[in-house]
Amino acid sequence: MKGEGIKSFEAPLRRTHLCGVLNREHSNQRVTLAGWVRRRRDHGGLIFVDLGDKSGITQVVFNPEVQKEVHEQARLLREGWVIAVEGKVKMRPSESINPKLKTGEIELVAEKMEILNPSEILPFSSDDNVKVNEEVRLKYRYLDLRRPVMQKNLFLRYQVTKLVRDFLDKKGFIEIETPFLTRSTPEGARDYLVPSRLNPGEFYALPQSPQLFKQLLMVAGFDRYFQIARCFRDEDLRADRQPEFTQIDIELSFIEEEDIYSLVEEMLAEVFKKILGVSLKIPFPRLSYQQAMERFGTDKPDTRFGLELVDVSSLVYPSKFMIFQKVLEEGGKVKGIRVPGGSRLSRRELEELSRWITLYGAGGMSWILFAQDGIRSPLSKFFPEGALLKVLECAGAKKGDAFLMVADKREVVAESLANLRLHLAKKFNLIPQDTYQALWVVDFPLFEYDKEGRLTPCNHPFTSPKEEDLPLLEKSPEKVRARAYDLVLNGKEIGGGSIRIHRRGIQEKIFNILGIDPLQAREKFGFLLDALSLGAPPHGGIAMGLDRLVMIVAGTDSIRDVIAFPKTQKAVCLMTQAPSTVDEKQLKELHLKVEE
Ligand code: AMO
Repeated sequence: MKGEGIKSFEAPLRRTHLCGVLNREHSNQRVTLAGWVRRRRDHGGLIFVDLGDKSGITQVVFNPEVQKEVHEQARLLREGWVIAVEGKVKMRPSESINPKLKTGEIELVAEKMEILNPSEILPFSSDDNVKVNEEVRLKYRYLDLRRPVMQKNLFLRYQVTKLVRDFLDKKGFIEIETPFLTRSTPEGARDYLVPSRLNPGEFYALPQSPQLFKQLLMVAGFDRYFQIARCFRDEDLRADRQPEFTQIDIELSFIEEEDIYSLVEEMLAEVFKKILGVSLKIPFPRLSYQQAMERFGTDKPDTRFGLELVDVSSLVYPSKFMIFQKVLEEGGKVKGIRVPGGSRLSRRELEELSRWITLYGAGGMSWILFAQDGIRSPLSKFFPEGALLKVLECAGAKKGDAFLMVADKREVVAESLANLRLHLAKKFNLIPQDTYQALWVVDFPLFEYDKEGRLTPCNHPFTSPKEEDLPLLEKSPEKVRARAYDLVLNGKEIGGGSIRIHRRGIQEKIFNILGIDPLQAREKFGFLLDALSLGAPPHGGIAMGLDRLVMIVAGTDSIRDVIAFPKTQKAVCLMTQAPSTVDEKQLKELHLKVEE
């Protein structure tokens, strides 16, 4: 490789400063910097090198009149080479001052240089402005992490984590680690399994969360526990989901919902104040699950903008429009969104939206445009103008607006309009930047029906039902509300938790309702049931998604931007090529055979 074998002149140079800290106060001082060549410009006579590290860059000047040999060597330098340079800090001539740079007033005039390690040509530049394909970024993640934006993100992550730790410490919590090699904790995803060599045919599950351990720590009397805990879930990945992610996991004894709300509000307010200088308004508003679904079609509404859903079912029912009537008679809904200024949407745009919304299961979308010269709608054939006007009135539409509607099963209306709402907000630029809207979603149902019509826990099976709903448990379990809460920030679920069941009888009843018979319950959760009958205090907690919180603080849409070594959508690490096949010998030791 070029540059290899080059000898340093004297004793190794020792770094005295970071590259991003020098300013006019250092002028005329002798310093030694070490770092990476970010850029090299050869102006014939002078060679300029931007030397960078985590703190920033300093411009280094190689002048043949100052040190001829060092200048000669500097000709070899390329982006990515690791060097140390000793020299004198000088004020830059006034015309070359760069006010955008922290070190922009000075430059380092090189007198000695040591090439610590030359580099092959980099697959991509560490300049933030150069667009690089994500696959390449992930393959050479260490180079990607060298970019200032990624350094900033990981630094932010560290700051958030440290603030959280300090905050909880101040509040009397202690951090306790819980096992990775454990039994399945049902959080609704598939488990990652680890075969046991010493117990042929048996498997550990990596924890989907430390849920049961933190409850057992309450039974043990620790009273206030937290853990920055890694969790593992084998589920379909999205922009804000990773197979291994980190939770701020919290559990407390002798508390009620309100204690958790105020603790978390204070903690988040501190994080936002100290890191972004933003004052979050506390207490956070609360919205029942039902209200959230009705008004926004989702249990994680982004409340930074309007475009709420309007139910017009009863208004459109009397019409002769078969499609609406059929949907309503089958128990569905007709709902829509008023789009301020939307009457200027072209027919083509509306038809595109109508096609786009089928992605979410809806058959299509109807619309009413309240144009200056009257109402325009494909529904005009089926509705008298007065009826359409009533719908517009109900939606609060003014001239110039549009009302976009979906008629379908309740879940389809909710999901498609929730997505349409976000899509329109982006299209019309309705989401204010640098604003943060948090809210609690409360009063979740304890159970929901899955696709196969089986009752499953909305949260996890250790969540306490509301005391007043206990009598409904057996006859109408679907009506029972949970003592559970989710924390939503800017439309992302950043936390979830509940008051737990601390009485054995109720826990057994819940298992039973979920179709887990006493024998199975004993086998899978015997340790928990025992603990609940051996002095379990009333307790509850929450887990916040650290990665998602940092995403919001860092202002990025991808969870991969705040995790040092993330996986792709297919749960692959492109750098190490994990997962991979293993030796036959290893499989044998684990008593495993792979079927092709
Ligand atoms: P839950 O399953 O709601 O609750 O998880 C808590 C929070 O963790 C984050 N999260 C994720 N982040 C990234 N990738 C994922 N795959 C992922 N899955 C979840 C979310 C979520 O709000 N044991 C309960 C907590 C409790 O009851 O105390 C639990 O794990 O931000």
